[in-house]
Amino acid sequence: MATILNGKSIVLGVTGSIAAFKAADLASKLTQAGADVDVVLTHSAQRFVGAATFAGLTHRPVSTGLYESNSELGIDHVALARRADLILIAPATANVLAKLAHGITDDVLTATILAGSQPLVVAPAMDADMYAAAASQANVQTLKERGVHFIGPESGRLASGLVGQGRMTQVQDIIGSVRALLGKSGDMVGRRVVVSAGGTEEPIDPVRVLTNRSTGKMGFAIAEAARDRGADVTLITAPTALPSPAGISVIPVESAIEMRDVVQTACVGSDLLVMAAAVSDYRPADPADQKIKKSGDDPLSIDLIQNPDIIAGIKVDGLVKVAFAAETNDLIENADAKLLSKGVQMVVANDVTAADSGFGTDTNAVTFITPGREPEAMPLMEKLDVGNALLDRALPFLNK
Ligand SMILES: Cc1cc2nc3c(=O)[nH]c(=O)nc-3n(C[C@H](O)[C@H](O)[C@H](O)COP(=O)(O)O)c2cc1C
Repeated sequence: MATILNGKSIVLGVTGSIAAFKAADLASKLTQAGADVDVVLTHSAQRFVGAATFAGLTHRPVSTGLYESNSELGIDHVALARRADLILIAPATANVLAKLAHGITDDVLTATILAGSQPLVVAPAMDADMYAAAASQANVQTLKERGVHFIGPESGRLASGLVGQGRMTQVQDIIGSVRALLGKSGDMVGRRVVVSAGGTEEPIDPVRVLTNRSTGKMGFAIAEAARDRGADVTLITAPTALPSPAGISVIPVESAIEMRDVVQTACVGSDLLVMAAAVSDYRPADPADQKIKKSGDDPLSIDLIQNPDIIAGIKVDGLVKVAFAAETNDLIENADAKLLSKGVQMVVANDVTAADSGFGTDTNAVTFITPGREPEAMPLMEKLDVGNALLDRALPFLNK
């Protein structure tokens, strides 16, 4: 799976917080995503986690001091500052924020930052009182005014046992924010994209719903692909177990009717709509107010009425529309028919019965169908790659 992190040079600064152990996971995940991760440890950080951990995870030398250079140049902070596409400090102590705010460069991390001009992202972690202290708040303010990107800190239970604002943001959200930031020079900057995801839930009674096997993975992957290319993304999702991706505006909905109304509003002023949600074709005509009870051995029948066709009903000038067609048979014929009936620029057909394809999997094999062109069958790919392939094919319509 090629994310925007692939081939990027990231300096990961780790400072002396209890949360330093989480930086090992961060370094590992960034490396797995294809980034070249140069870890810089402050002296305090080395009291919490060792350089060997990071060297082993990143397969690269770790910088531990101004006078213990690893670089060919012999000056780590200048070499790193020249190389990095982005500098990330996670966790960032109150101390490092203070030093950055005042231009102090008494270690390799702060010296690298002063020597570089790339985006700087910090994920603070500290006790709530340390974060709330007037000095820390003033430093945060100064750094924000200088364009430093803050991720968190979050509220929750802290290492001290107190509950308050000071927890480092979760690793997956830090990575999402870094991806979003790196995407700001992508080919979808200035584009507004609406994506729907998940399987709608149609109430039968207050405790039961009619739904389907969609997990939302495909729609979430498209939304993340668009975000990574610089788009301003709204993700409208039916109930799902997936965490909200960073840097994306997520609107949860339940039923098809709710999804239609929210999609309609979000599409005004947008450039592209991708309907990847599995929207129930039917809904119970008259959901019960109270839980339906068993009545002897009698069968139960529920009258269903048709839901509106959401994408066909969206009429916004200049909006490019892409519909997913999850099929179990006659894939191309059914998808072709949808191209006309839904008034869309592209249909993405997928056979949800195929191995490793469709609901719940991390991969998908789709066929892109556009008017006047032969269907384009894609190989089995990671869903993020499917998302990027879809956006590649949607972009020419946007640029018309
Ligand atoms: C057990 C322990 C945990 C600490 N956790 C934090 C923390 O989460 N955040 C913070 O700002 N400082 C924390 N400190 C204090 C910093 O380690 C200290 O301010 C140090 O000077 C930071 O140096 P550095 O910013 O160069 O890494 C902690 C200290 C100890 C002993």
